[in-house]
Amino acid sequence: MVDILLGLQWGDEGKGKIVDVLAPEYQVVARFQGGPNAGHTLEFDGKKHVLHQIPSGIFREDSINIIGNGVVLDPIIFRKEIDGLAAYQIDFKKNLFISKKASLIIPSHRLLDAASEKSKGESKIGSTLKGIGPTYSDKIARQGLRLGDILSPNFRKKYDELVAKHKQILSFYEYEYDLTEAETDFFSAVEFLKGFNLVDSEYTINQALQSGQKILAEGAQGSLLDIDFGSYPFVTSSSTTAAGVSSGLGVAPQKIKEVYGIFKAYCTRVGSGPFPTELLEETGERMRQEGREFGSTTGRPRRCGWMDLPALKYSVMLNGVTQLIMMKADVLNIFEEILICTHYQMEDGTITDQLPYDICDQKIVPVYKTLKGWHTSLNGLTNFDDMPVELKEYTAYIEKEIGVPVTFVSTGPDRLATVSRKSEL
Ligand code: GDP
Ligand code: IMO
Ligand code: MG
Repeated sequence: MVDILLGLQWGDEGKGKIVDVLAPEYQVVARFQGGPNAGHTLEFDGKKHVLHQIPSGIFREDSINIIGNGVVLDPIIFRKEIDGLAAYQIDFKKNLFISKKASLIIPSHRLLDAASEKSKGESKIGSTLKGIGPTYSDKIARQGLRLGDILSPNFRKKYDELVAKHKQILSFYEYEYDLTEAETDFFSAVEFLKGFNLVDSEYTINQALQSGQKILAEGAQGSLLDIDFGSYPFVTSSSTTAAGVSSGLGVAPQKIKEVYGIFKAYCTRVGSGPFPTELLEETGERMRQEGREFGSTTGRPRRCGWMDLPALKYSVMLNGVTQLIMMKADVLNIFEEILICTHYQMEDGTITDQLPYDICDQKIVPVYKTLKGWHTSLNGLTNFDDMPVELKEYTAYIEKEIGVPVTFVSTGPDRLATVSRKSEL
C-alpha cells in the first residue's frame, strides 16, 4: 500500500523530519511533486541536513528513494545535494531512482521566474526563484524537457529550441541576463545525472507494490499552496494535495491507505498571499525567534501566526487525512496563553468556518478561542501521558474540532524528539 505524508498549511511543517522518522517502516520513499522549492530539514546525531529534491528516506539504508514523474528537477541543485551527502557513503545505485518522466528545470526557467516576479512588483508571488512555475508551465504547454531527454541524441537541439522560446519571452520582459556560466554548469550537471538510475518509475513503484512493499509518498509544500485549492494566485504551480500522488507517481487511488497530515502547532508562511492569523507585532516576532522560522531554501524570515482551524479543516477535507501529526509544540512553551482561530469574520460581518473564495481580496478577521498555555519546557518528554495537562487539552481540542486523531507530537528538531501516541490511541 501507499501511505502519504503531506503538509496541511503553507509548507515547512516539518515533513522532512517525520519522513525520516517513519522511513524505517517503509521500503520505498517517493517524492511526487514540487522540486527545489522544497527544503526538508532532518536532524540526527547532532547534525542537520536540508534536502531539496532527494527524498527524506535517503539516510535510511534499507529505503529505496524515488523522485517521481510529477517532480521538476534541477540538475545543478541535484549535484550539490549529492555532494552534500558525500560523508554518508550512501549507495545511490541501490537507493535512488529518478523518473525519466520528471520535468527538467533548465537555467532559463530560473530567469523567467525572476523576470516574472520582478515585473509583478508589489504583487509578486514571493516565489523561491527556482524556476518552478515556468517549468510546470512548459510541461502543461507540452513543450517542456523531461529527464529522459538527456539520454537522447537530440537533447541539445531540443534544449536550444526551448531556450529560444524562453529568450523571446525574456525580451518581452526586457530582463537583463547572461546564461553562459549557468549553461556550462547545467551541461556538466546533466552529464553527472546520467550516472544515476533513470527509470520509468511508475513500473518501479507498481512492482514494489505488487511484491507487498510499503511506500511512503513524501509531500512537498503545503495544501494551502496547491494550484487548485490554495490562495490562488499566491500558490505554487503543482498539486500538493493527496490527489497529486496518483498522477505524480503513477499509482492508482485505491492503493492509497493512510494519509498523514502534518501541521505546526501554529502557522507560518513564506512569500506573499493571505494569512488570516498572521501576527505582525511582537508576538509574531517571538514565535519566529523561538521557532527559528527562517526559510530552509531561501533563508527568508517566515511570517508567523496562531493556529487556523478553518484552514486546517479545509486541508484535512481535501486530503482525506486519517492521522494528524502536530509539530513544533515546544515553540509554544514561551506563551502563557495560546490563541486558536475557530472562525473567520468577513467584511460584511458574517462568521464562517469555511475558506472563502475571495480570501485574497477582503480583510478577514479571525475569531479566536484562548487556551491556557503550558508555559514549561517539553525537553526530554517521550511519553504523551507525561506532557503538561494544557498541551493535552490543546491537542484534544484540535482532535475534537477536526475529528481526526493526533498520533504524533513533535517537541524538537531531532529525530528523537518525537512522541508517538499510536499505541495509546
Ligand atoms: P519541511 O519543509 O516540512 O520539511 O519543514 P522545514 O524543514 O522547511 O522546516 C521545519 C523546521 O522546523 C526545520 O528547521 C526543522 O529542523 C524544525 N523542526 C521540525 N520539528 C520541530 C519541532 O518539533 N520543534 C522545533 N523546535 N523545531 C522543529
Ligand atoms: P517545503 O516542501 C514553504 C512558496 C513560496 C511562494 C510560493 C510559490 O519546504 O514545505 P514557487 O517557488 O513554488 O513558485 O513559490 O510557494 N513555497 C514554499 N513555502 N515551503 C515550501 O516547500 C515551499 N515551496 C514553495 O515561498 O510563496
Ligand atoms: Mg521546508
